[in-house]
Amino acid sequence: MGHKSIDGALRRAILAGKPPDGVQIPGRTVCACHNVGEKTLISIINENQLDSADAVGAVTRAGTGCGSCIPEIESIIGTVRKSGTGGARSLSE
Ligand code: FES
Repeated sequence: MGHKSIDGALRRAILAGKPPDGVQIPGRTVCACHNVGEKTLISIINENQLDSADAVGAVTRAGTGCGSCIPEIESIIGTVRKSGTGGARSLSE
């Protein structure tokens, strides 16, 4: 029953309730087939100026499995485009 030690940066991140530097939180899962989160989608859509579910799928694979998440991906694209930036915020926040 030993305890693994954590380094200082990880300890500070845990205590601050934030991810360690360089670690992105994907947000709630939108595409279960490919484990792609909402924040990841918003970021990818913004960075690449994506405007279709096909384009998002080409970059992230989201929507390329069963396809049940495509309406939600299209909704996220619309919201991001409408807002101009979409920012890094979750749409559900
Ligand atoms: S949930 Fe996204 S392709 Fe199946």
